[in-house]
Amino acid sequence: MERLQKVIAQSGLTSRRKAEELIKLGKVKVNGKIVTELGTKVDSKDTIEVDNKILEKENKEYYLLNKPRGYITSTSDDRDRKVVTSLINTSARIFPVGRLDYDTTGVLLLTNDGDFANILMQPKNNIEKVYLAKIEGIIKGEQINRLKSGVEIDGIKVKASRVKLKRINNESNTSMVEITIHEGKNHQVKKMFEKVGYRVEKLTRKRIAIFTTENLKSGEYRKLTPKEVQIVYSYKNN
Ligand code: URA
Repeated sequence: MERLQKVIAQSGLTSRRKAEELIKLGKVKVNGKIVTELGTKVDSKDTIEVDNKILEKENKEYYLLNKPRGYITSTSDDRDRKVVTSLINTSARIFPVGRLDYDTTGVLLLTNDGDFANILMQPKNNIEKVYLAKIEGIIKGEQINRLKSGVEIDGIKVKASRVKLKRINNESNTSMVEITIHEGKNHQVKKMFEKVGYRVEKLTRKRIAIFTTENLKSGEYRKLTPKEVQIVYSYKNN
């Protein structure tokens, strides 16, 4: 048995909070009867209606996309920019797990499974995210140490668990730096480099948890295997 608002949210129809509002407003029926009690438990045999429409149970889908530059990580955009979900051929109501900037490329997971997405996004689960940043300037050891010991962005101290200088190019005055973080604050990597004096020119996410873009060209995607989904569920830290 599961809570009604969770089942509605898991169908992909709306968020859990909105589902709670709909229940309180008397817009949800279970087996033909209006239910306004938030704690109501239902199981798979119950028929749930929202606004007089029967809730369809969507199968769970999981995708790994090599995100190209020039797409926003959203399901729609009021400024008509291209959205990442348009790259995936499915009728399921999938959404991106976390965010990558418009100009950031690389590993992005998409799903219609809210629990799966939460596991990857909750800081307490300590999920590793590895980025390769091309930065303006030749980075110094002192700055690398500052990134590792922690910098404050938007009033919160964040640190990199690893920073590796991969290459420097004296001609173009740029450095390629691999940085590993565990949180997922907005523009975190760009802000961390900015804080120690460097502008990020290009950013690619190389890995999140066990997922990389191996064998996927920019814009290509694949489904996750059941084993991979199971591995993500094993990260759950209550
Ligand atoms: N950090 C950033 O600054 N941008 C991203 O897209 C991801 C992490």
